Amino acid sequence: MSYIEVTYPAEKPAFYRMLKEQLALYTADSPNLTAALANFSAVLAQAFPEANWAGFYLADGNELAVGPFQGRPAVSRIGYGKGVCGTAWKEDCAQVVEEVSCFAGHIACDCNTHSEIVIPLRKADGTIWGVLDMDSVLPGHFTEEDRIGLEECVKLLPAPN
Ligand code: SME
Repeated sequence: MSYIEVTYPAEKPAFYRMLKEQLALYTADSPNLTAALANFSAVLAQAFPEANWAGFYLADGNELAVGPFQGRPAVSRIGYGKGVCGTAWKEDCAQVVEEVSCFAGHIACDCNTHSEIVIPLRKADGTIWGVLDMDSVLPGHFTEEDRIGLEECVKLLPAPN
């Protein structure tokens, strides 16, 4: 399948309707979880041009290990409760950070990053198996609408057993 460029609407409800369609399109026939996560992060990078990092950290024992992503090379492992990602895991809820320099313990991977959103990935029983992480060069880029929209989007991913 060749990628067809789409223009995302500015209005958030319409943006997330199109984003979910695109994510479903490019992950529907994924042969495995890695393939789904790789295309998922590629679709997000197209949809959020101001995002300088979009991808996954996956639970591996008591740490998160970097998974498929788009962006500059990033830290490989994040401890439980560490950084924005580990905080989302420990506190069991999404984190929306308007300015990362104001988040105590933020782990900087790209000095151009100003804002960040981290969405937990959950199994059917609610257990967190990883997180979606997105960084933006714009301060205050991610909003509650994005949290709600992205929480819906990650439900499209196949959870591991
Ligand atoms: N900023 C993250 C680390 C991962 S990078 O943003 C890709 C954190 O504080 O957990």
